[in-house]
Amino acid sequence: MNLLIEPHGGELINRIVEREQLAHILEGNKNLKKLALSLRDLTEAENIATGLYSPLEGFMTEKDYLKVVEEMHLDNGLAWTIPVVLGVDEEKAKEFEPGDDILLTDYDGVEYGVLFLDDMYTYDKVKEAKLVYKTDEREHPGVANLYKRGNVLLGGKISLFKRVEHGLFNNYRLDPKDTRALIEEKGWKRVVGFQTRNPIHRAHEYIQKCALEICDGLLLTPLVGETKGSDVPVEYRIESYEVVMNRIYPQDRTGLSVFPAAMRYAGPREAVFHALCRQNMGCSYFIVGRDHAGVGDYYGTYDSQEIFHEFAFCEIGIEPLCFEHAFYCKKCGSMATAKTCPHDSEHHISLSGTKVRSLLSAGKRPPEELTRPEVADVLIRGMAKSS
Ligand code: ADX
Repeated sequence: MNLLIEPHGGELINRIVEREQLAHILEGNKNLKKLALSLRDLTEAENIATGLYSPLEGFMTEKDYLKVVEEMHLDNGLAWTIPVVLGVDEEKAKEFEPGDDILLTDYDGVEYGVLFLDDMYTYDKVKEAKLVYKTDEREHPGVANLYKRGNVLLGGKISLFKRVEHGLFNNYRLDPKDTRALIEEKGWKRVVGFQTRNPIHRAHEYIQKCALEICDGLLLTPLVGETKGSDVPVEYRIESYEVVMNRIYPQDRTGLSVFPAAMRYAGPREAVFHALCRQNMGCSYFIVGRDHAGVGDYYGTYDSQEIFHEFAFCEIGIEPLCFEHAFYCKKCGSMATAKTCPHDSEHHISLSGTKVRSLLSAGKRPPEELTRPEVADVLIRGMAKSS
């Protein structure tokens, strides 16, 4: 019997096809229209095609887009919080009309798949910014990205016959069907997923291990899509995970599969999106700590936990495991949170991300209670290379 959690919507979407299956379109249509996509958009198409974004089968049509922006649901009633859309500029949009089959390529003309164009629409960027990101300031990196997006959105199902060559981390690029197979092979029943855009630190380790105490398996799914410039370079983030996987974590209870989406920095809305993607990967629980997917002070510390209460019971299959801000307490002699530590903050060790970065840039390890020395050494190397 298959005990794995169902994908969101009940079915793991697969829009990966053999090229021959589209031969009637590719060879049969001499005037086939083409659209060249950025790596970010191609990766979104791939995430749809592999089922990571199940139940999405393509880029959102206007009905879905508006429902998602305004009501955090798809038109079919399923919960969904982040627009997954394909923007083009007005000039390019003039080439297309609904009903077209459009060949999707990269900027070098390499062919990847077909968009079955169903809908073309303009949209209100400020409204999307305010509702999805809770701000229309362009200093917010997610909003800045939205403002750069093309003014016309193309909606419709896609089929891909070529996978994107990402170059990095191919050993850790498991599709949702593969993470599901891994979980089954390991025999894990309760599996907790973890999202991060940072190198691992002791607070991460603490909440991951707390979660693992009540689950059978931990699936580490660090994000490797686009992030804002000041985040630590992705190679070193992944290497920090390799270090702890090999030395600190029980190998039979831990898996690593990268999350190939771009960071939106949409705080609470992105926490739900992150959770649904991990459900599609086969996780039954998802860690949501302090200021999940936040940036600056746009969101309250626990907004990303509270948003889950805005959905009806069972609308979101995966269960959030919520953690308060974790720190090292000298009096407790351990990591703790305000829930478990009665001591004053003067006994707590904590450093801002900026301070940690400046120590690492100077070739110095942060306190052991915050970053394991073997992880610090990876990051010191990373900082030296990237400066
Ligand atoms: S995120 O943008 O991917 O959320 P980050 O890598 O910092 O950023 O966090 C990964 C996960 O760990 C998130 O769920 C976040 O809330 C949680 N987290 C990070 N630091 C702490 C901390 N000190 N205490 C509790 N949870 C934390």
